[in-house]
Amino acid sequence: MAEYTTHEHDVLVIGAGGAGLRAAIEASASGMDVAVVCKSLLGKAHTVMAEGGVAAALAHVDDRDSWKVHFADTMRGGQYINSWRMAELHAKEAPERVRELEAWGAVFDRTKDGRILQRNFGGHRYPRLAHVGDRTGLEMIRTLQDHGIHKGMKVYMEHTTIRLLKDGERVVGAFGYDRERGRFHLWKAKAVVLATGGIGRAYKITSNSWEYTGDGQSLAYHAGAELMDMEFVQFHPTGMVWPPSVRGILVTEGVRGEGGVLRNSEGRRFMFDDIPENYRSSTATDPEEGWRYVCGDKEARRPPELLTRDHVARCIRREVKAGRGSPHGGVFLDIAWIKEKIPSSAEHIKKKLPSMYHQFKALADIDITSEAMEVGPTTHYVMGGVRVDPDSQMSPTVPGLFAAGEVAAGLHGANRLGGNSLSDLIVFGKRAGEYAAKFAKEHGGGSINDREVQDIARWALAPFERDDRNNPYAVQHELQDLMQDLVGIVRTEDEMLKALAAIGELHKRAHQVGVSSNREYNPGWHTALDLDNLLTVSQAVTLSAIERKESRGGHFRDDFPDKNPEYSKFNTVLHKGADGQMQLRREPVKPLRDDLAVIVEQNK
Ligand code: FUM
Repeated sequence: MAEYTTHEHDVLVIGAGGAGLRAAIEASASGMDVAVVCKSLLGKAHTVMAEGGVAAALAHVDDRDSWKVHFADTMRGGQYINSWRMAELHAKEAPERVRELEAWGAVFDRTKDGRILQRNFGGHRYPRLAHVGDRTGLEMIRTLQDHGIHKGMKVYMEHTTIRLLKDGERVVGAFGYDRERGRFHLWKAKAVVLATGGIGRAYKITSNSWEYTGDGQSLAYHAGAELMDMEFVQFHPTGMVWPPSVRGILVTEGVRGEGGVLRNSEGRRFMFDDIPENYRSSTATDPEEGWRYVCGDKEARRPPELLTRDHVARCIRREVKAGRGSPHGGVFLDIAWIKEKIPSSAEHIKKKLPSMYHQFKALADIDITSEAMEVGPTTHYVMGGVRVDPDSQMSPTVPGLFAAGEVAAGLHGANRLGGNSLSDLIVFGKRAGEYAAKFAKEHGGGSINDREVQDIARWALAPFERDDRNNPYAVQHELQDLMQDLVGIVRTEDEMLKALAAIGELHKRAHQVGVSSNREYNPGWHTALDLDNLLTVSQAVTLSAIERKESRGGHFRDDFPDKNPEYSKFNTVLHKGADGQMQLRREPVKPLRDDLAVIVEQNK
């Protein structure tokens, strides 16, 4: 019989990034006893990789901005398969959530008249990203962490969750282990909020650190929740490409928001080569300043480097493939050119982009105030995830299970706009915490099946019984290579079918991997247990991507390079069938509410 320690709380939050912390704060404020379980140390979350800002229509820099324009931008960015209800709630509630952060002590850069400063970002019509230099996510985590601790949340750091526990249909807790001693823990809870972030580690080149192995998506799926729109993976256009040890580390879009331009090896701003029709001005273009961006009677100048991320990433890939890339397989991102416009440009860059300055100086020996950076696409975010009710964030098929932030699907549709991640976390983290607390109060606790717990413990310990020559790292690396090569920025049916078959084989091998030594801090064992999640989400991405025979947002098919209106009518939804196999169905997109349709039309 495996031993484990039991903990009991009203609301259990799994994941301690922005969404998890905001959910914990809200549930605590409702008088609940709240625990947060996090795989890493508190404060180390992918939230900090949203560097450039949090999107909210505060209208401090351009008073034409409003929730309506933010809503319309988010829908356009998501290519109209977003959950429009989530996009509406998000645009309406983001300003209030940002002001609340400020009241809790978050520091933001300021306009001359002392209001929160906002900057330009891709796909946002007006300067909308409230920011503090290029450390916005970090500031947000710092604020939420302090506030959460003040509210009395209990934190289990360096604990990994390996299974959700159910009583009938509803969720009643979770089972996992602490990484340091390798001991098992069981958390009983009346409601569970998943806030585990993304799946970036399924790919070789990623901005995500080691924690992001699709745990929440996989835990939810195996517990009976549905996954939606998993084909939509975001490749951020600008990650570092050199030196190899830092490949994939994020270079914030804030660099382009502050005037950084992309050039190929010929020194040409190649983003002017391919401006999509719906973004093109019917009037003039001006290659140095940007092009005239016209919307009804409104007009703004925007550089083409700030087109949506999917588009910019594909243009960079095109330049590299055509032999016009930088020496290490990227392109050049140049912010130093602003010296032509700003006399004290070096100081300006260091003030606006302090992390980028230090990152390139320390890691690549590049001074970005005088030299161009080499950058290329990096796997950054997954738009798909756990299907949730838009208002409460609860799974429609697993009562008591909530999901918020990157692990949840809906808000971003086919492509997320930069900065909408941070606002997503605080808007829907709050909602998930509020509704989880309500569920906990109304439903009380359930019972735990000890036989099921023993089965999970046996499964988790099995790698110690096997031959350690079947190495978990080899399976992980093969998976990352194949996802990168066959289910990456540009996809084809043939390659994805190959990938699907290979994932099936890797699944079999994952069940045979062995590890040596003991349970105390054993990364090989941890990797062996992560494999199941990585393979589950990789299969989900691939199956959904095969189903969508068109190109839309983050999903680009070389064999179907255009958008097909038929595919704007549904989301892809996956669930675990009675036979244990992954089943896919097409879920019709709900028709847009009339008043919102008018807003979209007015802001096209
Ligand atoms: O480029 C960035 O700063 C990333 C922002 C985001 O993903 O929202």
